[in-house]
Amino acid sequence: MTWRASVVTLFPDMLPGPLGLSLAGRARAAGVWSLDTVNLRDFAPDKHRTVDDTPFGGGSGMVLRPDIVDAALAGCDDGRPLVCLTPRGAPFTQAHAARFAASPGLVLLCGRYEGVDQRVIEARDMLELSIGDYVLSGGELAALVVLDATIRLLPGVMGAADSATEESFTDALLEYPHYTRPADWQGRRVPDVLLSGHHEAVRAWRQAQSENITRARRPDLWASRAYQSPAAVGCQPGAAALPNSDERILR
Ligand code: ADE
Repeated sequence: MTWRASVVTLFPDMLPGPLGLSLAGRARAAGVWSLDTVNLRDFAPDKHRTVDDTPFGGGSGMVLRPDIVDAALAGCDDGRPLVCLTPRGAPFTQAHAARFAASPGLVLLCGRYEGVDQRVIEARDMLELSIGDYVLSGGELAALVVLDATIRLLPGVMGAADSATEESFTDALLEYPHYTRPADWQGRRVPDVLLSGHHEAVRAWRQAQSENITRARRPDLWASRAYQSPAAVGCQPGAAALPNSDERILR
């Protein structure tokens, strides 16, 4: 069955954007996933097509009206996960992407202005997600990020060679470094172990690299792991880490 994405937005022309190209574009052409956009302005009752109003309590900016957002969502809220993109949201992670890929599709609401009236977020039981600690001009780019991360996990989108099982975050670890030919480039040599042909030694080296790089760059991710291989510190062969449980990452 085709995985269905519905994006509710004031700027439908921002979609599919980069998702019309490359891996995602080919998968969409092949019917692996579909995209429909819903223009919030189509649900504005007045001739000026007003979708927002000033915030109660004062302050700057405008807030998207709950009645208009609700009417726009009514046609696509069919049991698929319903996500509101906002810098106030919980951090979007690989675990969300995996869960979304396993569902029939996704409904994404892109906020603009100061935000969306909280009552419709609660009434529709939306999951509020952020793609990072910075403020974009709207949720559209964030929706593209969430969709890209999810679509590449759909069955048949990545080739066997691109298996998602070993990449960054699937195990709450950053990925080890990669090397290809030439083995000596400008005097910089590829680590000997990778040329050794010893599969177990390569696996252990990569595991230790992953653990050390995660500890150095992402202490938060490292601290979230249930088990930390003691071997990582000295870059020696380490035991395989336990996979991270979904419950600790999802809301
Ligand atoms: N809208 C504006 N900034 C955002 C962010 N960082 N994540 C998700 N949606 C947003």
